[in-house]
Amino acid sequence: MGFRGSLMADKPWGGRFGDPTHPAAERFTASLPFDYRLWPYDLQGSEAWARALGQAHVLTEAEVQAILRGLGEIRGEFEQGTFPYRIELEDIHMNIERRLIEKIGEVGGKLHTGRSRNDQVVLDVRLYLRDEIRAIREEVRIVQAALVQRAEEHRDCPMPGYTHLQRAQPVLLAHHLLAYVFMFQRDRERLREGLGRVDLLPLGSGALAGSAYPIDRLSLAKLLGFTRISENSMDAVSDRDFILEFLAHAAILATHVSRLAGELCLWSTAEFGFVELPDAFATGSSLMPQKKNPDVAELLRGKAGRIYGHLVGLLAVMKGLPLAYNRDLQEDKEPLFDTVETLRGSLGVLAPLIVDLRFDVGRLRQTAGEQYVTATDMADYLVGKGLPFREAHECVGRVVRFAIEQGKRLDELPLADLTRFSPLFDEEVYARITVEASLEARALPGGTAPEAVATALAHARAVVEPGS
Ligand code: ARG
Repeated sequence: MGFRGSLMADKPWGGRFGDPTHPAAERFTASLPFDYRLWPYDLQGSEAWARALGQAHVLTEAEVQAILRGLGEIRGEFEQGTFPYRIELEDIHMNIERRLIEKIGEVGGKLHTGRSRNDQVVLDVRLYLRDEIRAIREEVRIVQAALVQRAEEHRDCPMPGYTHLQRAQPVLLAHHLLAYVFMFQRDRERLREGLGRVDLLPLGSGALAGSAYPIDRLSLAKLLGFTRISENSMDAVSDRDFILEFLAHAAILATHVSRLAGELCLWSTAEFGFVELPDAFATGSSLMPQKKNPDVAELLRGKAGRIYGHLVGLLAVMKGLPLAYNRDLQEDKEPLFDTVETLRGSLGVLAPLIVDLRFDVGRLRQTAGEQYVTATDMADYLVGKGLPFREAHECVGRVVRFAIEQGKRLDELPLADLTRFSPLFDEEVYARITVEASLEARALPGGTAPEAVATALAHARAVVEPGS
């Protein structure tokens, strides 16, 4: 974006000041380089404010119409990319106001009656964040839908489940993928709840004490699609808790993205070999010809770090700030915008990456049964024969050690060997320690048995329906 150079006479507070702003101070205080993003919301808010001033008979109908026409022309300039930004006008709000006066003359100077940039800026941010949260919720839904689709395709593929990154018990790949679907579902719930707190009209708060004009705030709220109005003007212009809350939700969502992406990095190694990343989402090495690197997944894993930074950064800005507006609050914008853009970029690449993953079903199946992962099932078998679980655990632990010494799998040990550890063993045990039997045994709601997973899958499918 090209910003025009400085022209000090233009400052809205010029009346009070004798000397021009130092160019370094001008550059230092300007928020235009990042708050230009708010232009659609600043126009929307100003149109609504002009109408409200008309309804309150502060402006004549002709004045309202002139302002609306001017704002409409300015909208056209933004859409065509011809709006003449002027950095010396500090922020998007003053840029638009000055442009309006250039276009329609003196009457443009009436728009700011009874309003302050303090209530204007927080209105703009609320309108912006409302749109962005809706968009992010939809992008999370698309990621969930991709996971559900892959889970459906792999509903009978077993794999090793891990604790402590050690093979623990067999699970279905679908069960593993659905774990993320439910994490993302809670992210969408949190974001929706947060929307309820973004939904509040601050306009009419003025600089801090309220507005001295008879504005109908409730109908203004309705016009802007808010269901509530702020009940304290000082609170309205000076708190940013709705942004902090969004950043906290964003940090949790980014954590879920990071864990999923981290598993893809791990799973695509030769050591795991569970998945092959699509070429379109991998990169090569500039030195080693054989390399296929998971850079996209690694960046998805890493992005959480900067989002955490933005949350902690804004908390630190807010801490100890006296009421009401302080210019420190301008520091809310870069962390917010960067978080929104980082999240949307991440979700936008994660969904197609998931769609194109190639799972190595043969390898998943084979590894699902290795490393004594059905030892718990052997213990459960002894429990079924009446042995207290603690004794069964101890007994099977000894069986496992013996099998390791013999270099055999559990199901390769003859019954004669097993009965040396417990007289309760009989032929039935072999049917209980297969991967399939282990999966099927975990049939409680929420477990990994095929029928339990089918139920979860049906629920997951419903929550990712378009429009949900
Ligand atoms: N650019 C400012 C911000 O982002 C707008 C509000 C300025 N208000 C003021 N009293 N200086 O917070």
